[in-house]
Amino acid sequence: MRVRTAVIWTLAATAAIFLGWRMLRPLEIFSISKRFENPLPATPVPSLGTLSARHCGTCHRANYREWSTTIHRRAWTDSYFQADWRAEGRKQICLECHTPLTTQQRYRVLGYHGGNRWDPALAPNPAFKQTLRQQGVNCAACHVRHGVIYGPFANLNAPHPVARWNNDNEACVRCHVVNNRHRDVFYRMPPCGTVTEITRTRRRFQLEGLPIHALLSATSPDPLAGVPRYVGERQAPPARRAVDDDGYGVALPARALAALKCVECHMPSVNRPLVPGGKVRPGRRHLWRGGHDPRMVRDALNVSFAEALTSTSGRERYILTLTDTGAEHYIPTGVPDRHLTVKLRVLDAGGHTLKSRTFTLERRVLWRPFIVELHDTRLRPLEPRIYGIGLSTRTHPRPTAVEAVVRYWLMGKSHRAHLHYPAPISYVLFRSRIPLVGGNASGAS
Ligand code: HEC
Ligand code: HEC
Ligand code: HEC
Ligand code: HEC
Ligand code: HEC
Repeated sequence: MRVRTAVIWTLAATAAIFLGWRMLRPLEIFSISKRFENPLPATPVPSLGTLSARHCGTCHRANYREWSTTIHRRAWTDSYFQADWRAEGRKQICLECHTPLTTQQRYRVLGYHGGNRWDPALAPNPAFKQTLRQQGVNCAACHVRHGVIYGPFANLNAPHPVARWNNDNEACVRCHVVNNRHRDVFYRMPPCGTVTEITRTRRRFQLEGLPIHALLSATSPDPLAGVPRYVGERQAPPARRAVDDDGYGVALPARALAALKCVECHMPSVNRPLVPGGKVRPGRRHLWRGGHDPRMVRDALNVSFAEALTSTSGRERYILTLTDTGAEHYIPTGVPDRHLTVKLRVLDAGGHTLKSRTFTLERRVLWRPFIVELHDTRLRPLEPRIYGIGLSTRTHPRPTAVEAVVRYWLMGKSHRAHLHYPAPISYVLFRSRIPLVGGNASGAS
């Protein structure tokens, strides 16, 4: 009897210690892949003294001006990144994407404690340049490998060596794909799932080579009229592995890269010279707008708010329909902090809330004691979502209006409190208030 009690106590104590450790240990949200485990070597480009964006900008003025306005430019200075980085213990690995060149990092990695790549042994980096670090994801992070400037063209007469990418999207994959295949991790898609989301969309709608916009009808009142019905998940053909010879670390064939279309949506096309007085060429604006830009998100959404047709007398129902018609990945995409809320309210004459319903469109992950993906209610491309609120016109006080507000959140309120983050974390994407005429919207007819 005493032995059994002792065994039970030992097991319970072990389980408690194990769970306690799982609650406290540092979280490894993603696994460190070969692609980004090291900084990018800042190999000098012959004839250019420095890899500073400002120097590129002396010739490529338009690209520089645009890049200066972007989140890539602020990937280090961004206050959200800074707050999060501090809270995460200033991990070196974060810098491999936020300040990716060797010369942008204050420390270099000598080795790893116990082979753990989350725990490097660091020494001061004599090549570190503070002004370069401020530039975050600069021109060289995307364009320079082995001292050569890669770009979309071939055979240009440039004052620096140039080479051509297999495909433009090659420049995005290094940082915008992270995975986690640890046995004790239960994500349903990679922690930053943008590419997986796009692949699923293409399979689902059999998009093949077409962009998502090709499915939408610009002339019909219902832009979704021409969208094919759900055809079921098809098996993807096995990806052929391409030889990675240019230093981009991408093992995807050019055709698969082209299908991602990141550049097509995030870098609007433009005809202009690459340098003042140069030949006009088909280029792309260096803008990369996303969740930080309300207009970019608004333009990707189709929203309507109206009375449902099925109301019975005295009871009415209002529905908000929300569709992602502009992004091939989910909305929002990227880090799982991002989410949308839909708030529907019934108001009285004084503007007081009589009834309200809030829906959250999010990717919810339980981080501790284990990483388990609980649900994912984000918007999928071309899949209309309907949110409703019912009301009775016979209650007192009488309802006089219904209101819908859709909001984009960069992070949740509790995360904000944890980070002591001072700046605004959400903005309004859509707001509409429908007056109920005489306490009943359809009462006049
Ligand atoms: C002294 C001026 C000058 C500087 C400095 C300069 N470039 Fe260029 N670059 C050019 C010219 C000229 C061309 C060719 C333009 C043409 O033929 O239309 C060119 C071409 C390019 C191309 C197109 C390559 C291709 O094959 O698609 C890219 C990309 C590029 N430069 C990026 C950069 C980056 C990044 C930097 C900084 C690391 C930089 N350039 C610095 C003048 C410059
Ligand atoms: C060297 C790493 C790196 C590369 C390469 C890279 N990105 Fe990024 N990207 C980032 C980081 C880091 C952020 C987030 C910065 C932040 O918010 O602090 C980001 C943010 C973004 C955003 C979000 C904008 C927003 O408003 O939230 C978009 C869109 C984007 N990148 C598109 C691209 C595209 C398209 C490419 C390829 C042409 C690309 N990126 C290549 C690192 C990279
Ligand atoms: C996030 C990755 C990324 C960054 C950062 C970046 N570029 Fe580019 N750049 C691209 C891609 C992708 C293209 C190809 C667009 C296309 O298909 O024409 C490109 C094209 C170019 C071209 C060729 C013509 C054109 O304008 O499309 C030049 C020149 C150029 N970039 C210069 C720069 C300079 C200068 C900077 C820094 C101020 C910079 N780039 C920063 C990804 C990047
Ligand atoms: C069909 C157009 C389309 C394609 C293709 C596309 N995007 Fe987007 N992307 C958008 C739109 C629209 C938004 C703004 C809505 C949102 O935030 O989801 C966006 C937002 C983003 C954001 C911002 C998320 C955040 O956290 O703020 C990132 C990062 C991003 N895209 C990366 C990519 C990458 C990487 C690719 C290619 C693998 C890609 N996108 C392909 C249209 C597109
Ligand atoms: C593999 C490249 C990569 C690594 C490593 C990485 N990031 Fe990022 N980070 C990105 C990209 C790309 C984005 C923007 C797209 C998105 O939202 O997923 C981003 C976005 C962010 C954002 C949101 C910023 C904003 O303004 O919205 C924060 C915060 C952030 N990263 C913090 C970190 C921290 C802390 C680490 C280290 C634990 C880290 N990142 C490691 C690539 C990376």
